[in-house]
Amino acid sequence: MKNSIWTASAPSNIALIKYMGKLDGNIPCNASLSYTLDKYRTVVTLKISDNDNFVNSENLSDESVQKFMKHLDYIRQVFGCKEKFYVISENNFQHSAGIASSASSFAALTLCACKAISDLLHIDTPSLKEMSEISRVGSGSSCRSFFSPWSLWQAESAEAIELPILKHELVLIDTKVKPVSSSRAHELVRTSYLFEGRIARAEKRLASLIFALQKKDWQRCYQICWEEFWDMHALFETSNPHFGYFSSQTLQKLRDIEHLWKRYNDGPIVTIDAGANIHLLWHQ
Ligand code: DP6
Repeated sequence: MKNSIWTASAPSNIALIKYMGKLDGNIPCNASLSYTLDKYRTVVTLKISDNDNFVNSENLSDESVQKFMKHLDYIRQVFGCKEKFYVISENNFQHSAGIASSASSFAALTLCACKAISDLLHIDTPSLKEMSEISRVGSGSSCRSFFSPWSLWQAESAEAIELPILKHELVLIDTKVKPVSSSRAHELVRTSYLFEGRIARAEKRLASLIFALQKKDWQRCYQICWEEFWDMHALFETSNPHFGYFSSQTLQKLRDIEHLWKRYNDGPIVTIDAGANIHLLWHQ
């Protein structure tokens, strides 16, 4: 086994109902719903080594690297494995593409480490549900990347949910590093006066969005997702200290999309994550 190499890849995802606010172990305050971005993937390779080593093609901050390697430790601990690994993580999309790589990278690390450790310990590879739960502990949103095209995450577990296929398009506005990490944002939003009622608002929107998607009521889907991303960004802007991600171009582009809807009575679903870039989901 000394020369064995394991590799696994996982996609990113974009949430339409957001995970914002959490409890210990990345248990979300509210359920979230995401669309899996199969084209945007991270590939993780593991090789047995005398010491843990991490190599990646992006310039990750020390904090991000520590969080990643801490997750490898956690996976080893789950299975009682003592092996050390040489870890390579590569995205098939550019760091500057404006897609959060945390979901895809933690999901890929979890998949790869579970595969490697199961081989080494001669045990069955855990189920997707088990791996998704392990991945959640590393970074919450990664647990949704195990299911495609739609993923619904409530409490400990994510699962697939059947809803219409959409076409994803990214409107790239800003490629700068986020001013506040998502993990910090989860803490800060609790200081906003708008956090009261947030869980009820998100849960209500989730039920309405699933219903609207099932009915293919695209205008309603657009309205719900619009309200939802503004809700999350309003939490950011009213936290103490407050912070934000939008640029003037973000607002300009949002106005363009609004005009499109007004003119044609049709258009894409729009959402914005913790960044300035806009995600469009077009119905077929
Ligand atoms: C704004 O999963 O990055 O993208 O669990 O602390 O790693 P941690 O946070 P993370 O949070 C993602 C927040 C979000 C919304 C979402 O993806 O639902």
